Amino acid sequence: MAKTKTAFFCQNCGTQSPKWLGKCPGCNEWNTFVEEVVTSAQDEDWKDTTAKKSTKSKPESLESIEVSSEQRIPTNDKELDRVLGGGLVGGSLILIGGEPGIGKSTLMLQIALQLPSVKTLYVSGEESKQQIKMRAQRIGKQSPSLFILTETNLNLIFDQIKQLSPSILIIDSIQTIFTDKVEAATGSVSQVRQCAGELMKFAKQTNTPVFLIGHITKEGSLAGPKILEHMVDTVIQFEGDRHLSYRILRTTKNRFGSTSELGIYEMQNNGLRQVSNPSEILISQREDGLSGISIGASLEGNRPLLIEIQSLVTPAAYGTPQRSSTGFDSKRLNMLLAVLEKRGGHRLGMHDVFLNIAGGLRIDDPAIDLAVAVAIVSSLEEVPIPKKSCFAGEVGLGGEIRAVNRIENRIMEAEKLGFEQIYISEYNTKGLDMSRYAIKILTFSRLDAVVSAILN
Ligand code: TYD
Ligand code: MG
Repeated sequence: MAKTKTAFFCQNCGTQSPKWLGKCPGCNEWNTFVEEVVTSAQDEDWKDTTAKKSTKSKPESLESIEVSSEQRIPTNDKELDRVLGGGLVGGSLILIGGEPGIGKSTLMLQIALQLPSVKTLYVSGEESKQQIKMRAQRIGKQSPSLFILTETNLNLIFDQIKQLSPSILIIDSIQTIFTDKVEAATGSVSQVRQCAGELMKFAKQTNTPVFLIGHITKEGSLAGPKILEHMVDTVIQFEGDRHLSYRILRTTKNRFGSTSELGIYEMQNNGLRQVSNPSEILISQREDGLSGISIGASLEGNRPLLIEIQSLVTPAAYGTPQRSSTGFDSKRLNMLLAVLEKRGGHRLGMHDVFLNIAGGLRIDDPAIDLAVAVAIVSSLEEVPIPKKSCFAGEVGLGGEIRAVNRIENRIMEAEKLGFEQIYISEYNTKGLDMSRYAIKILTFSRLDAVVSAILN
């Protein structure tokens, strides 16, 4: 008989330790260690323990390996397809994380309903069949090839899978599934890891794409083990402000595509609507004539996005001025403030500066530097930025405006949305045929030149 071995696991991040610890060295949380049984049964096959595989894998020369051009299954959802890198890859294990109530179950059910000719099994450990049916009615779709199973025991789930042999499997959620092979509580680190491991073997051996829904802890990491993120092929986060109806789908890891793509949805009464032109919603609430507001032409992945940047600069009431930014890196904000102060002579050292990216987005694209800098000056000087103008340029430490990538895409998006002028770097004009665009392209090499062009 196998000896039972135990170890302690941090329930927050999955760190393992041979003895109990008060504070987790991995995530610095207190009192998160719980003793769990470590079984040696982790290598068991998902089908049957008796079905030992006889095929051993042998080394093969790289040249002789054949690649059957990756079969992708389109999900009929443009946003998800884009985020996945062009559709579902057979045998891939995809983790969808998000806070409770953000809409993970709705999204997956909706995707399943949109695949009418693909046999899909939706396993729910959280809701009853009636609840799922009601949600499907709310979405207003039917599908004869979608099967619902309410079960939490993984072995029984596999029994059903063997009979049904679905082409796509959805598990809602991985934290509610358990296996008898591990004697730990449902949702604990060992359970989650063991179940995900078996589901991964199932995915790889049958070439079935498997979606795992996972909850997120308050701190924003996937509840339970980090290890889950290492095991799966793709990690998708479903995020958004619960008070706003917009939801953003973003990959943080993808073995089959880039991690810079975004999908945008709007939660409506009848399910999630794909937002194919996000710039419109991100800048639609613009009031004319307000100072401190500018539009940056950004790129998220391959997708041009025009975003509104709001800034508020007020005299500091106390000694140390406050700097606060939402959706934009605060170190970068400090850098831009220093450049404005040193190279442009703007007295920002005596002012509080607040910066906000509208729509709850987080932007890392350096091309919005210029828009951020002019928004700050506009608020400081209380001069609104000319109407229908937008900006694309990175600001260097010397106050120079640097070239940004894919300038044509940014210009085209601005033109499409009815902007009349775009401010870009002079260094971006090489090979750029300005006569192709109706929008006026203004080129600058220095930040202070842009600022004086706007203030006058
Ligand atoms: P849900 O998918 O249950 O979230 P999760 O699985 O991430 O916990 O989504 C729940 C929220 O979405 C709930 O507050 C109701 C809302 N909702 C709508 O606004 N419209 C809809 O059509 C549906 C189905 C849900
Ligand atoms: Mg749910």
